[in-house]
Amino acid sequence: MEKILRSFIVFEGLDGAGTTTQIRNLARYYEFNRREYYLTAEPTDNPIGQLVRKVLQKKIQTTPEALALLYAADRHDHIYNESHGIMRMSEEGKIVISDRYFYSSIAYQSVECDPDFVLAINRFPLPEVIIFVDTPVDVCMERIEKRGGEKELFDRSSFLSKVRDNYLSAFSSLPQGVRLITIDGSMAPEEVESAIRAELSSLSL
Ligand code: TYD
Repeated sequence: MEKILRSFIVFEGLDGAGTTTQIRNLARYYEFNRREYYLTAEPTDNPIGQLVRKVLQKKIQTTPEALALLYAADRHDHIYNESHGIMRMSEEGKIVISDRYFYSSIAYQSVECDPDFVLAINRFPLPEVIIFVDTPVDVCMERIEKRGGEKELFDRSSFLSKVRDNYLSAFSSLPQGVRLITIDGSMAPEEVESAIRAELSSLSL
């Protein structure tokens, strides 16, 4: 089994699930309480992550497998990069919070690629906690529509339904030591926030 990184919290959910808002709130809470934390996200802002964004914006066309490999390459750098990698931040004793991690690849890329291929290229250290903001697909779609702008590659309701099924199946067999917190994302943002706070406090996080 891959190593579990202590105090590594990842947020997962469908596009429009509201994870970004919740992460911002959590960071504010840690700030207020003077906890050392490192806030990060995938795809990253580093060169490989930027390449991923170009594929999502349909500026670069490639195969689903090449995109899966790009996500994994971006992730490898995200974890192991000597100057800004998660490993390093974690070793420094910081609480690391990531908006998405390899569970996103398992859920999203497995819709179009062989799930075994996606698993094979995603052997990474495990988080201590996964916060799954489980928001119904129709609520997510409404929020995506409201945001406006160009639709990205994965903003379709039939696609998101499959992604949700993949998340649920990945989360049904997590290794021991990885804690899953599922929060009902259809609640008001403040309720989601306090549910997350309560769960994390019980883990001293
Ligand atoms: P994200 O930045 O969370 O979305 P937004 O731009 O709306 O804030 O993620 C971008 C998209 O990439 C999103 O549709 C989810 C998808 N994704 C994958 O398909 N696989 C992955 O491994 C990751 C990290 C994201």
